[in-house]
Amino acid sequence: MKLGVLKRYWDFLPTTSNTSLITLGEGDTPLLRSQSLEKELGCGELYFKLEGCNPTGSFKDRGMVVAAAKALEIGCSAIICASTGNTSASASAYGALCKLDTIVIIPSGNIAIGKLAQAIVYGARIISIDGNFDQALDIVRALVQRYPITLVNSLNPHRIEGQKTAAFEIVDTLGDAPDFLFIPVGNAGNITAYWKGFKEYYDVGRATRMPRMMGFEAEGAAPIARGRVFPKPETIATAIRIGNPASWQKAETARDESGGIIDCVSDGEILAAYHLLATTEGIFGEPASAASVAGLIKLSRKGMNLSKERVTCVITGSGLKDPDTAVKRASPFLESAATLDAVEQTLGWR
Ligand code: F0G
Repeated sequence: MKLGVLKRYWDFLPTTSNTSLITLGEGDTPLLRSQSLEKELGCGELYFKLEGCNPTGSFKDRGMVVAAAKALEIGCSAIICASTGNTSASASAYGALCKLDTIVIIPSGNIAIGKLAQAIVYGARIISIDGNFDQALDIVRALVQRYPITLVNSLNPHRIEGQKTAAFEIVDTLGDAPDFLFIPVGNAGNITAYWKGFKEYYDVGRATRMPRMMGFEAEGAAPIARGRVFPKPETIATAIRIGNPASWQKAETARDESGGIIDCVSDGEILAAYHLLATTEGIFGEPASAASVAGLIKLSRKGMNLSKERVTCVITGSGLKDPDTAVKRASPFLESAATLDAVEQTLGWR
C-alpha cells in the first residue's frame, strides 16, 4: 500500500498532532535505470525519477499534499494558485479531497489541454487571464493579502517541504545521493526543494554526499541563466514559460552551494530530448520535463566527462498532459483500405 508523502516522511515534515494524514497516493515514484542513453552519453550510471507517476501526473502533488494539510490545520477553507498547469491540476485535486474552495489563475492559451481538463474535472474555479504566469502570480499574491485564502504556489514553504521528499526517495533508493541532479527550472521551487532535501539527508547522516544541482530553463524563458527578467517568456515547454521566478535567489543558492549550474536549452533541444526519451527509453515525459535530459545531452556533447558519475534526471510530469505537442509532431499516418491485403501492402510486406 502506498503510504503517501505525509506518512512516509512525517518526521521530516512540518507536521503536528493536528495535521491530517491526507493522501492521494503521492510519492514513492519509480527511479529507473536508463536502458540506452546511459551508454550513448557515456554516463557511469543514469537514472530517471519519474514524477509523472504521481496521482495528478506531476511532482506538484508532493508539495500540494503538505500545503493542503496545513491549510486544513489552520481552518482555512479556500486555496488559490497561479499556474502554468500542473500546480492548478494538483491544487484542484487536493482541494477536492479536502473540500476546499479552489481557485486557479492560468495564462490564457498557454496551458496544456490535459492540465486544463484536470482542473475542470476536479471542480476548481478557473480564471484564465490575458497575460502570462508571472502576471497571474502577482495577482494571486495581492489577493492573499486581502482575503483569508491560502496561497499554494511554491512561495508557500509547505510546498517546498513536501517536494523535498523526492530527494529523500532518490537517496533511499540509491543508498546515497547521486553525483549530479539534472532538473528543469521554471518558477524555481523544485530545484530549491531538492536541494533542501539533499542537505537535510546529508545533515542527519542518511547520505554521505550531495549532488551538484544542474538546472535547465528554456532558452526563451531563461531569467536565471541569463541574469535578467524575461518580460515576455516564450517556449514550447509551457510548464516552464516563466520570466521572473519566485524562488530565483533560492535557486541560485542551490546552484552555488552545490557547485552546479543553471543553464538553458532551446525548444529544439527540448523536443529532441522529449522524442529520444520516448523512443529509446519508453518514457513519455512532458516537454518541460525533457529540459533536464536536454541539458544532460547538451553538456555531454560539449565534452563533459560523466563516465564515473552517477546522474539522475528528474522527469517532472507526464507527457499525456500535453497531447497537442505529441500529435503536432507526428509523421503522417500511413493510410490503408480496411483489408488485410491492403494493410500488408501498405507495410511493404507483399
Ligand atoms: N516541470 C513541470 C512539468 C512543471 O509543471 C514545472 C512547473 C516545472 C518543471 C518547473 O518547476 O517551477 O518548481 O521550477 N510548473 C509550475 C506550474 C510553474 O504552475 O505548474 P519549478
